[in-house]
Amino acid sequence: MGWNDWYTAYCGVNAQLVEQSAQAMVNDGMKAAGYQYVNIDDCWMAPSRDSAGNLVADPTRFPGGIKPVADYVHSLGLKLGIYEDAGTTTCAHLPGSYGHEAQDAASFAAWGVDYLKYDRCNIPFDQFPGQPEQQVQQTLATRMSDALKATGRPIVFSICTPDRGDDPWRWSAPIANLWRTTTDIQDNFGSMLVNFEGTVNLFADAGPGAWNDPDMLQIGNRGSTRLEYRTEFSLWAEMAAPLIASTNLAALSPGALAMYENTAVIAVDQDPWGKPGIPISSTGGLWVLSKELSGGDRSVVLFNSTVTAATIATSATAVGLPAAGAYRLQDLWSNSVTASRGAISAFVPAHGVVMYRVSTIDRRQARALPPHTMLSLAPAAAQLFTGRSTIVRETLTDDGPAPVKRVKLTFRAGRGWRIKRLGRARVERLAPGHRYTVAFRVTAPVAGPPFALAALSGGASWDPVNGWRATAAILGERVFAPVPPPYRTADLTSQPAAFGARDGAFAISARGTGVLQPWNAPPTGSYAAIYEPQRAGVSSTAQVTVTYDQAGGTAGGAGLIERDAMTAPAASPAGVVLFVNDAGTVVMSWNATGARNVDSRYAVQNAVVHEPVTLRLVRGGSTYTGYYSTDAGVTWSPVDTVTVAPGASAGDQDVGVFHASGLFTWTTTATFKDFSVR
Ligand code: GLA
Repeated sequence: MGWNDWYTAYCGVNAQLVEQSAQAMVNDGMKAAGYQYVNIDDCWMAPSRDSAGNLVADPTRFPGGIKPVADYVHSLGLKLGIYEDAGTTTCAHLPGSYGHEAQDAASFAAWGVDYLKYDRCNIPFDQFPGQPEQQVQQTLATRMSDALKATGRPIVFSICTPDRGDDPWRWSAPIANLWRTTTDIQDNFGSMLVNFEGTVNLFADAGPGAWNDPDMLQIGNRGSTRLEYRTEFSLWAEMAAPLIASTNLAALSPGALAMYENTAVIAVDQDPWGKPGIPISSTGGLWVLSKELSGGDRSVVLFNSTVTAATIATSATAVGLPAAGAYRLQDLWSNSVTASRGAISAFVPAHGVVMYRVSTIDRRQARALPPHTMLSLAPAAAQLFTGRSTIVRETLTDDGPAPVKRVKLTFRAGRGWRIKRLGRARVERLAPGHRYTVAFRVTAPVAGPPFALAALSGGASWDPVNGWRATAAILGERVFAPVPPPYRTADLTSQPAAFGARDGAFAISARGTGVLQPWNAPPTGSYAAIYEPQRAGVSSTAQVTVTYDQAGGTAGGAGLIERDAMTAPAASPAGVVLFVNDAGTVVMSWNATGARNVDSRYAVQNAVVHEPVTLRLVRGGSTYTGYYSTDAGVTWSPVDTVTVAPGASAGDQDVGVFHASGLFTWTTTATFKDFSVR
């Protein structure tokens, strides 16, 4: 457990930041909660070694070198970490340890370093002819591991070889204490999900002293919701992953700090048995994980990676607990404690988790606890349209060993919604193991934006033996305005996309790995679009403002698309896309060769645009010029002028807007306004 500067300072790291962060960890309670390592990442070095070949710290940012920083950190009872690279240079092109392993390890030990993160950029593979990359990584990491051991100072060794095929979990345990399993994390739910999914199945490869590292925690960096950060912290703890906060500790909100200091969740992460949680199921993106804890408890995480709230349920037996009179469920985020006859269940919000510590108890102990209940909402339709109705079933389940009595179920929605209850709201007695359901007919307001998230909430109150209790469930129902003619929709993704339109404004909610990227095999592209057939003439201008785009990676994005035929990607590739991706980069891709996939790509690398961004695509025959504007069309920056495959796109083309989340496993929603074709 610790802190690392990378995601807050990048190459601006300096002694002051490191020392202030160490001080903050003491003052804000993180040290007391167990955070110990204060880690310096890349860029701490001067651009060259000294005349004796020793590494030197950057003289302006670390004026006294590393030793005084280590001394200061030690004086606070904390430990210092540093960064190097097995190659000739680090990822930021500063001197690497290749050929200097023993010398550098000796420097680290002399300075008082307690932890080394060892990266893998710029490795001279040509020095290892015929050797597979993984073997070279292993050889070089072993050199540094041996060099660290030879210093006699205990130094935690953290390997950073997250590239495809390196598979460090297969070879690192004998030489390292932790190894990165996945690529650099970003501060969004999709990236967190990728790193979780890339690590969770490696549970058998990790254990005490040798850990899977899905990369650093983003809590506090403000790119995700509180719920998503809570999910990250819970999943990392369940995987027994390192908890390394990579954020500006001085600017942490009380909420983010409380998350970092949830001692019940930390206890799961740091459990002495060191057993990573095991995925029990993951059907439809609804995950159940179980981690065996010392003393026989289990930590159970119910994780909803989908876009709508859902019931996730398992049983004590399924998660590996022995038969018992009853089970004690401690919710590690709400701190409520209930008794269950065996069901472990919750209604979990989209992108959220419920995390329980489950223990066996006897019947007598169970009688002293409130019964475990679950209130859930199940809509008949996964998405709703303005002015249309659906049925939402509200169910209270009694999973406890005692009945719940005098139950009343309520249901609410926002302004403009119509709700009709289709059954009795009250039930006198709900026996253990039973449930009561009331259906509601729910009608969305007639008018609305192309896309809105409506909070439909259910409530239950009842009177168990020892007083009234109440519980609530919130369903984020997705409401779309139906797409009217002349617009059409095209869905080339693996999961049904959802579309909304109103007055030239659009919303597309979709998965998809990207748009016609050159590396996709034909039929290319995995995206969803709203378009007008044959609307872009040989001399035309299409324009739209992307008002929101949260994609999962640089392959995803939202923008304009113009093609011969939108729904026939393999047969009719000629066309152009102009979009903004998750990194805020404006990208233009097109078909230059006449092959079946879009094969050319130009990105305005220095265009880091934040929505809204207006995109304009000007067509003159088979030549297209893209522009973007971040001031609503007052000033325009050119992207590129390109020519598509000769012979193609001689006539009118389909034109519209598209969105791809960047990933197969999650859905994001992009919204657009002021679409026009002239
Ligand atoms: C790589 C690592 C990151 C960070 C940077 C520093 O990308 O994966 O964690 O250390 O290098 O340059």
